Amino acid sequence: MKFEKTIACIGAGYVGGPTMSVIAYKCPQYKVIVTDIDAKRIERWNSENLPVYEPGLDEIVRKVRGKNLFFTTDIESSIKEAQIIFISVNTPTKEYGIGKGMAPDVKYLEKAARDILKYSNSDKIVVEKSTVPVRSAETIERILSTSSKYKFEVLSNPEFLAEGSAVKDLLEPDRVLIGSKETPSGVKAREELVKLYENWVPREKIITSNVWSSELAKLAANAFLAQRISSINALTPICEIVGADIDELSKCIGSDSRIGNKFLKASVGFGGSCFKKDILNLVYLCNSLGLEEVGDYFLKIVEINEYQKNRFFRNVVREMMNTVADKKIAIFGFAFKANTNDTRESAAIDIAKNLAEEKAVVWITDPKALENAKKDLEGVNGKFFFTEDPYEASDNADAILVLTEWEMYKNLDYKKIFDAMRKPAFIFDGRNILDHKSLYKIGFNVFPIGKLPLKHFKLESKSYLL
Ligand code: NAD
Ligand code: UGA
Repeated sequence: MKFEKTIACIGAGYVGGPTMSVIAYKCPQYKVIVTDIDAKRIERWNSENLPVYEPGLDEIVRKVRGKNLFFTTDIESSIKEAQIIFISVNTPTKEYGIGKGMAPDVKYLEKAARDILKYSNSDKIVVEKSTVPVRSAETIERILSTSSKYKFEVLSNPEFLAEGSAVKDLLEPDRVLIGSKETPSGVKAREELVKLYENWVPREKIITSNVWSSELAKLAANAFLAQRISSINALTPICEIVGADIDELSKCIGSDSRIGNKFLKASVGFGGSCFKKDILNLVYLCNSLGLEEVGDYFLKIVEINEYQKNRFFRNVVREMMNTVADKKIAIFGFAFKANTNDTRESAAIDIAKNLAEEKAVVWITDPKALENAKKDLEGVNGKFFFTEDPYEASDNADAILVLTEWEMYKNLDYKKIFDAMRKPAFIFDGRNILDHKSLYKIGFNVFPIGKLPLKHFKLESKSYLL
């Protein structure tokens, strides 16, 4: 079959894979090639067991793979064949050298740009899809402009999908953002990309801007989202002391149409590969620009999140009579949110490690994320066990910690679970998804987030050990 155009994507991860699958699905006239240095990942994209779990993704991939969607490790021919090349490589926080623990590591981005330079045999449009430090397009351009033969136009097109709803977000995005230069060639390239998205996204949802606004808007959007969670989470310890209810607060605050009701769900702390790293990226930028006060403002979002995870863990130990040593603790949910197998930066990782340090016997259950959970805890000193069955995880356990808001956890037979647990039995609901009053009636000691606990025992005086 003759295709109108070929699109390549460097990086077959949580963004590259689903994004390109949707482009291929919505644009049958284009050939879409996704390439990666990770041969195992590519192998899985070509199998029945995709490396990324997202509701609706399997069906889309099944429809287009082998027709106009291809996964390959052959980076050279992918670049040669394409007129438009997306870069969707990872941009993690640097773990070495200057800016360690704060600055984004752009080595993968640079490698992708150098591969484009090396293998190109025609002019190309290069699209930054990864979340990058502001002015990265300039870096990519600097590399590509060393070509004496070909011309490259670099666009910024950050991705706003959230995991767990990636397919829906891609099919019906709130907006698509395209940053370009205002030069004739910049505008022409931008129009090419607008045309691509117009295959399924209404034109009024496609926002165009200059490149730097586009790069900065992505970091800012994530900071705004995470800030809402840290703000609501910062109120939870107050609620627990004064007897207010965080869900009632969220409802009230969110009913103001100027504020809106999304992203006000209190939790054990936000996770995911991006919020923390993108905020640190922003903080690093602020500090580099000499804007320390601004940097400190954004940094607090991350600090409150660390505080919340730690607070949850310490609460577990304190309420369980100041020791969890040799106690069986069941962690319900290891993914950083429901409907994904991704565990990157999941609050569950820190909590599991801290529990192990306190010598607890940690049983982890999750419907999709056990494979990643095992990798996260590999080499960590401690007693970890894994099962897909929450009943097995909680059998003879002292406590259940709900760390991911999987729908299935709402519908378990908690009477059966309670009967099989050691007494006193504890539930710490880090997501406020369970029916706390019924659990209390069954016999559990229940500890929600940002609400008064429901305990069957009263201590004469507070325990101040932790
Ligand atoms: P990921 O780690 O899942 O995938 C990145 C892939 O790029 C990996 O498979 C890696 O092997 C590959 N890669 C790295 N360097 C390469 C190279 N030179 N050539 C070929 N392949 C290479 O990362 P992700 O979650 O898909 O995120 C990618 C980017 O998108 C990041 O910048 C992230 O901040 C951003 N983003 C992620 C999400 C999300 O929900 N995960 C959402 C929006 C934006
Ligand atoms: C987030 C953004 O929502 C996306 O727009 C963005 O594209 C993406 O980061 C990215 O740049 O990687 P994601 O991290 O996949 O998406 O998932 P979210 O739905 O934002 O959830 C992040 C974390 O916050 C999860 O741990 C979730 O449980 C938590 N959360 C979310 C809360 O604790 N409370 C809420 O009200 C909402």
